[in-house]
Amino acid sequence: QTVEWDADAAEKGGYEHYMRKEIHEQPHAVRQALSGRVDEFAGTVDLDLSISKEYYHSLDEIQIIACGTSYYAGLYAAELLEQYADVRVSVHIASEYEFRANRDPWRTLVVAVTQSGETADTLRALRKADGAGARTLAVTNTVGSTMAREADDTVYIRSGPEIGVAATKTFASQVTTLTLLTVYFGRQRNTLSSNEASTILKELSDLPGAIQQVLDAESIVRETAEEFADSDAFFFIGRRFGYPVALEGALKLKEISYDHAEGFASGELKHGPLALVTENTPVLAILTEGTSAHETLHNVKEVESRGAPAIGVSSETDLNPVFDTVLEVPNVGLMEPVVANVYLQLFAYHVASQKDRSIDKPRNLAKSVTVE
Ligand code: AGP
Repeated sequence: QTVEWDADAAEKGGYEHYMRKEIHEQPHAVRQALSGRVDEFAGTVDLDLSISKEYYHSLDEIQIIACGTSYYAGLYAAELLEQYADVRVSVHIASEYEFRANRDPWRTLVVAVTQSGETADTLRALRKADGAGARTLAVTNTVGSTMAREADDTVYIRSGPEIGVAATKTFASQVTTLTLLTVYFGRQRNTLSSNEASTILKELSDLPGAIQQVLDAESIVRETAEEFADSDAFFFIGRRFGYPVALEGALKLKEISYDHAEGFASGELKHGPLALVTENTPVLAILTEGTSAHETLHNVKEVESRGAPAIGVSSETDLNPVFDTVLEVPNVGLMEPVVANVYLQLFAYHVASQKDRSIDKPRNLAKSVTVE
């Protein structure tokens, strides 16, 4: 009996799509991003950066430039950096970026967050910042990429190759790496004590296991996706760290299912988008550590009173009765929104699977957008 060797299936590790394989690779990817960089006990991080101590104290602003999923990771990082490194941060969609030098451009650090390291919009913005005299740092997954070569410094996210056009594991790797960068900057700028740093690093070390718990609950997400797959549209809402995750969850769904999906800051619904909410538009709400969950609860009640199904992606078990469906997030602290995002990735995957979409290569899209 001859066994047909399906090279393609072997490459996908037995998964039907690269996207699902890469969603399941996240615990390993996060461990790779952490490996050899962390001393949890001392509360220190080593990223092999060639920036002087004086520079950190003279730093006036960090400008983050990125596109798509990487832009959402940048929004997430901005919250972290402002809180723990006590530095002014602005986040820019790369194609909208016009470098605004401060008093001294050399006191501005421009961070390009880019999985491929080749995105034309981000590269153009990086070159503009570099030309104006700012210091540049690339956070990327691709060794030897154009932006890895051109930036003054590079920190690799070490996610491993991501084949699916839709970014999945690289978002978790980007946020992990940007959290390490935040701890590093906070310690260099003396805005973060070793104890505070140790706490953050401990919660980072809990991230792979928490993601694995969500992956083990995939069947619940698949059932939820099957229940709501034929909805008119999908809305994702979150506050603070939950906001970039809501945006990312919507992007994932629209990218591969071609359904209309939109992410909102929870408090914004009543300023217009609520007019779109009906009993055929499920609302996925992120309620975890760092998302002002109890304020978001008001917004959940707003949509439920319009008849919309509410799906809670929540670590706040006391709030569970509010929801039609709850996707439970383990209590692991600071990184809970990143764990919640894994539910949203699986939700998007299974909605798209219901519609037999070209999941790894969605129509009109490319993995690396090298044209402006
Ligand atoms: C995300 O799923 C998309 N593939 C897309 O938005 C992507 O994040 C964006 O094009 C940026 O790519 P980069 O991280 O390689 O720069």
